Amino acid sequence: MSARISASVFTSHVPAIGAALDLGKTTEPYWQPLFAGYEQSKAWFADHTPDAIVLVYNDHATAFSLEMIPTFAIGTAASFDVADEGWGPRPVPRVIGHPALAAHIAQSVIQQDFDLTIVNQMDVDHGLTVPLSLMCGQPDAWPCPVIPIAVNVVHYPVPSGRRCFNLGQAIRRAVESYDDDLNVQIWGTGGMSHQLQGPRAGLINSGFDHAFLDELIASPAELADKPHVEYIREAGSEGIELVMWLIARGAMSDVAGGPPPTVRHRFYHVPASNTAVGHLILEN
Ligand code: DHB
Ligand code: FE
Repeated sequence: MSARISASVFTSHVPAIGAALDLGKTTEPYWQPLFAGYEQSKAWFADHTPDAIVLVYNDHATAFSLEMIPTFAIGTAASFDVADEGWGPRPVPRVIGHPALAAHIAQSVIQQDFDLTIVNQMDVDHGLTVPLSLMCGQPDAWPCPVIPIAVNVVHYPVPSGRRCFNLGQAIRRAVESYDDDLNVQIWGTGGMSHQLQGPRAGLINSGFDHAFLDELIASPAELADKPHVEYIREAGSEGIELVMWLIARGAMSDVAGGPPPTVRHRFYHVPASNTAVGHLILEN
């Protein structure tokens, strides 16, 4: 039996969500509606805990800097420490990797002509830990190994939606050629519309976000053609994080001719800090 991708999870990764959890503020009026939207997701995840998660996220100049900017990187380490982003590491468990599956994905995806940077040591920031917190709550240890896939959406040029969608398909083929009966989920994180800087700081575009969710579910190949300038114009400078969702979506089996995925959960909420929060769970 080989490994397979059973589901994809999509969620924003706003750092203030992590702070709200860590500081016990989830029931405060500002945060309660946001966390309520993830209650069902936590129950789903507890029932559908995979053997490993391929977690697509972006590093926010934490592990990488202007000195080194990989477009696509895969974390092959046995574990990843929680990054200190300026106010101490979040009080969450360290992330356990899956070196064997990660090495296989690197081998397979690179042979499919995607140039992944192999990262054997890396601290992981809110882009990776906040989605884990939203889906798993506050456990003493994360419930399964995580393979980080870091995507550059911070420094131009960023990868196109088309390339992200194709990378997801390559990752699916990699997982399905791994010779062990593993249940794997793939998560796409970041977004939705937000801009943290400049005259348009605070921009939210709910119309764009809902259309993006609709298309991500029903017509991802067409969505993958959206040019990066459109994300920036419509969803704000940091809205470009949404291209990462196309990696997770590209790994779903309908893209390879299977039946459409089942929408297990869909949620949208504004505001969380300066960001529109979107969330989807799709099952193969
Ligand atoms: C915010 C959102 C992000 O995606 C991020 O990486 C940093 C900050 C925010 O809304 O504050
Ligand atoms: Fe971000």
